[in-house]
This record gives sequence, C-alpha cells and structure tokens, in this order.
Amino acid sequence: MEPKIFTFILLVSCSSLFNLAQSHQGKWKLLKRSIGVSAMHMQLLPNDKVIAFDRSDFGPSNLTLPQGKCIQESKSSDCYAHSVEFDPATRAVRPLTILSDTWCSSGALSVDGTLVQSGGYRLGEKVVRYLKPCMDCDWEEDQNGLLSPRWYSSNQVLPDGKIIVVGGRYQFTYEFVPKLSDSDRQLYVLPFLKETRYSSLVPNNLYPFLHLSTDGNLFVFANDRAILLDYVNNKVIRSYPVMPGGISRNYPTTGSSVLLPLKLFNNTSTPDAEVLICGGTAPDSNEKANAGVFVPASNSCGRLIITAPSPKWEMEEMPINRVMGDMIMLPTGDVLIINGAAKGTAGWIVARDPVLSPVMYRTGARNGDENTRFDVLNPSSIPRLYHSTAHLLSDGRVLVGGSNPNVNYNFSALYPTELSLEAFYPPYLTTKKPRPSILAVKPGLKLGYKQKFSLEFTLKGCVNQSDFFVTMVAPSFTTHSIAMNQRLLVLAFDDGMKKTASGNYLLEGYSPETAALAPPGYYQLFLVHEGIPSKGKWIQIK
Ligand SMILES: *[C@@H]1O[C@H](CO)[C@@H](O)[C@H](O)[C@H]1NC(C)=O
Ligand SMILES: *[C@@H]1O[C@H](CO)[C@@H](O)[C@H](O)[C@H]1NC(C)=O
Ligand SMILES: *[C@@H]1O[C@H](CO)[C@@H](O)[C@H](O)[C@H]1NC(C)=O
Ligand SMILES: *[C@@H]1O[C@H](CO)[C@@H](O)[C@H](O)[C@H]1NC(C)=O
Ligand SMILES: *[C@@H]1O[C@H](CO)[C@@H](O)[C@H](O)[C@H]1NC(C)=O
Repeated sequence: MEPKIFTFILLVSCSSLFNLAQSHQGKWKLLKRSIGVSAMHMQLLPNDKVIAFDRSDFGPSNLTLPQGKCIQESKSSDCYAHSVEFDPATRAVRPLTILSDTWCSSGALSVDGTLVQSGGYRLGEKVVRYLKPCMDCDWEEDQNGLLSPRWYSSNQVLPDGKIIVVGGRYQFTYEFVPKLSDSDRQLYVLPFLKETRYSSLVPNNLYPFLHLSTDGNLFVFANDRAILLDYVNNKVIRSYPVMPGGISRNYPTTGSSVLLPLKLFNNTSTPDAEVLICGGTAPDSNEKANAGVFVPASNSCGRLIITAPSPKWEMEEMPINRVMGDMIMLPTGDVLIINGAAKGTAGWIVARDPVLSPVMYRTGARNGDENTRFDVLNPSSIPRLYHSTAHLLSDGRVLVGGSNPNVNYNFSALYPTELSLEAFYPPYLTTKKPRPSILAVKPGLKLGYKQKFSLEFTLKGCVNQSDFFVTMVAPSFTTHSIAMNQRLLVLAFDDGMKKTASGNYLLEGYSPETAALAPPGYYQLFLVHEGIPSKGKWIQIK
C-alpha cells in the first residue's frame, strides 16, 4: 500500500505546495571556522576536492605542514602550509606544499583535470605549478614555466586545450602554457593592456576579463573597453563600443564578468555569445580610498552580445552597489553576485561597508523569461572583502572563502583575515521541491564533440516534460572577483523523454559541436527540472 500513498502525496504537492517555494531566499552554513589558510584562490577539481591557497610570503599560516616538514628557503625555513585541499563532503583539510609565491596568480584546468597555475609574486612570478586530481598528490613546480613575470594576470583555456595567460602588472603581453611548440615559446605584444590603464602610473586594469567567444577568438575586457583578439595571429579583430558610465571594472576598481549561458538547443547554428559585467567603481576610487575617502561602488551592469554585427551595451542597475563582487554561474544559468563591498576598492584596508547579501541575476537561460531580473538573497554574517572567493560546488552550493584585506594575517583588524569557509545554498536548495538525480550518461562520461548521448535520471515526484533543460558547466579558477574559464552551455536535447522499465527517465541529447563552444576538459552536467538542478555529474569532453 505504501507506494500508493506516496504517489498521492506527491500529486498534491505537484499542483500546489511546490509553487510557494519560489519565495525562498537561500541560506548560509559555516562549513569550517578555519582551514588554516585564507582562500584567496580556489579551484574545484574533477575529484570534487577544492584547492585553496593564498601566498607564501605572509609568514606563518594557521596550519603547519605534516610530519614536521619544512621548506628550506634562501635564509629561513618555512614549516607552514599556504595551500590546502578541502573536501566539501567531509570538510577534511589536507595541507599541501607550495614552494614559490602564488600571491595574485592565475590558473586553469588542463584537459586531463590537472590544475595548471601560473605566476605570482617575486620568486613565484614566472613559475607554473601543476596539481593533479589524485589522493595524495601535491604541487609540482616549473620554475621557468613562463617567459614573463605575471602578477595579476588572467587565464583562459583555448579550443586546442592550451592555456593563454594574459597581462599582469606592467606586462602588456600574452603567452601560452604549457610550452610545447615554438609558437608557445614566444611572447605576444598586446598594446590594449597598456592603453586601458587609468594613467601610466596607475596599473588599474589588472586581471583583465577573458572570455572565449563562440568563433574561437578571445574577448578581452579592461575597465570600460573591450576587443576581440585573434591570439594566433596576434591581431585585434574588432574593438567594441566603450561601456557607458565611466566606471572602471578591473583591479583594483574591481567588478566582475561572466559569459552568459551559451544556448545550444538550436545545435545547427552557432549561438550568440553575450557577456555580463557588473560592479566596479570610479577610476580614481583607489587613490581616494588610500587617502581615506571611500567612494560608493557602482551599481551598474552591462550586457554586450559580442558576436552581434553591431553590438551595443545594454545597461542595468543592481539593487546594491558593489565592488569586488564575485559572479558565479549557477547550474540553472542564473548568475549569483556575491561578496565584496559597497564603498572603496580592492587593496589593503581600502574597502568599507561589506555587502553581505548576494544578489541573483536571472538570465532566462532556457527561454528568455527573466521574471524578476534581480533578487536580493539572505545575507551572510562574515564580510568577504579583498582576497575573498566563491566557487560553485558539484552539489549546487556555492563555496565562499577568504578575505584578507590586511598586509599580513591579522585577526584583530577592522576586517580580520578570514580562514573560514561557508556554503551558500541558493534558493533552489531551500525549497521543498524534489531534485532530479542523474543516474547515468551513455555511452559514457567521456564524450566527443557532436556526439549523441543519453542521460538517465530519476525524480521523486511528477516530471514536467515541458520544463527541463540540461546545462554543462566548466569549473572555474577564482580569485580577485574573476572566475577564469567559467562557462555554461545549455545543451540540445530531443523533445520528449522515455520512461525506463525501472521507472526512471531517459533523455537524448547532443554534446557541443566544436571546441570553441566548449574547450576540451572536464565539465559538470546538471539536469534542471522546474528550476531545480540535480547534482552535477562530471564528464570529460575532448
Ligand atoms: C590563527 O592562529 C593565531 C595564532 O595562534 C590565533 O590567534 C588565531 O585565533 C588563529 N585564527 C583562526 C581563525 O584560527
Ligand atoms: C531555433 O532557431 C530558429 C530559427 O532561428 C528559431 O525560430 C527557434 O525559435 C529556435 N529554437 C529555439 C529552441 O531557440
Ligand atoms: C592589525 O590591524 C590593526 C588595524 O589595522 C593594526 O593596528 C595592527 O597593527 C595589525 N596587526 C598586525 C599584527 O599586523
Ligand atoms: C543536433 O545535431 C545532431 C547532429 O550533430 C542532429 O542529428 C540532431 O538532429 C540535432 N538536434 C537538434 C535538436 O537540432
Ligand atoms: C510545466 O511547465 C510549464 C513551463 O514552465 C508550465 O507552464 C506548466 O504549468 C507546468 N505544468 C505543471 C503541471 O506544473
């Protein structure tokens, strides 16, 4: 008798109760008071572990290396960890051994899921570091991995699986890693990085925003200007209109940027690529903040279709002003704007009025129905200012960590150094609506391009066949309000679904057509049913 009663309850819920759930505003949970280091940089690996690290020149962290291990440096010895592996499932922390200074560096995942991490400060500025996604793996370092010193540079995975590293403080060039061919051992000049500074003395366009466009060229944005770069031939193919408003969007006047969902459900034509950039502040805010004047941050966002024949910025206003916000794409295709401050800028002790409430930006991933564009969500109690990060986890939560706006670890400062990690549960996790669960992907978790595959899922409750879609999300390397390589595709699926003998559901879909749409590597598949995503299922495409 029991199954019948169960069915009855679900039918009632389907028609009424679940609809109330839309009013939830998410929730926060403290996962760990201290992981021993401040999560200035974070990357989720395909084994579902998160690598977090700050810098190795801070002096002692709050975590020693295991078994009395120390690193011998020129004059002294350092027995502290500056990097950890965090397991979101068990909350276990494993200290890792980083040898060179990773302060304000960049990163990306290689095709095989290895974290390739580049640059940093002083002795770390030309280093490329590798960390494989395995049980007891630790950092391996190539001291001469880069041709130029790269401090505050940005990375993007390219269609051939290589990684481009762009800019850095006083570096008006780009290069490729790893160095496999002659063209990788060359430095490419990019005057745009010089031209977009506020003044020659103020390198205020750091950590440029990079997005791989659907034609394989690279969109590069700095402050309020953008170009499309053919990085192979070192040619600027197009210059975009200046973003209106006179706001600077890059470090230290830091805003954030995402490539909006690439909708492949018309898989015969290349989808438009559209960029969304939010927050930042006036170009001189950092100078003013250094003199004790904390200018209100911008509340503006701009959207630009970078593949349009004559693109035009479409400006919008956030409900809260924000500098140093992180923009994280959720599995639903919506964008979570989280962390940061309402006044001041990035840099040491120069931000005020922490913004504790995340804001949801609804993109209309599926069909353009945006409902309310912005939604203010429940606040955290922990300020996350300079050197804070956010990262989407496989289970759909957003991991939030870091914040060290101080010269050193300082637990008594106005905004103390944060060694904690929290999880934000977006509204889709605080409703009572059932989550779909992906059971299997066939022919397997390794997919080629243009490949037909099936996805088997289960759902406790009734399936609405006209309200589901499947997204594919690339894990990002996040630091300084940029989520490098963040990318979300809405996949093409055939209409209708089959019911299997065991009562599950079967969908048939298509992997992306080209590596310009989805560079090779690891992604997570999410099935979104009536706005509620499943947990992510890792796939590798190449
Ligand atoms: C880090 O260690 C210092 C010194 O032992 C201690 O005062 C501080 O409370 C610790 N901070 C955290 C967040 O554990
Ligand atoms: C696919 O493209 C056609 C032609 O551009 C358009 O009419 C149709 O609405 C698109 N379908 C979807 C699901 O976007
Ligand atoms: C911590 O920050 C406070 C306030 O900025 C400052 O007075 C103090 O000297 C700092 N402590 C350390 C150890 O740097
Ligand atoms: C998607 O592309 C595949 C070939 O790659 C084709 O067989 C299929 O019909 C297409 N589906 C849709 C929904 O356009
Ligand atoms: C199924 O989803 C569609 C599209 O969101 C919606 O209009 C419809 O009301 C839903 N059906 C049920 C039974 O909830």
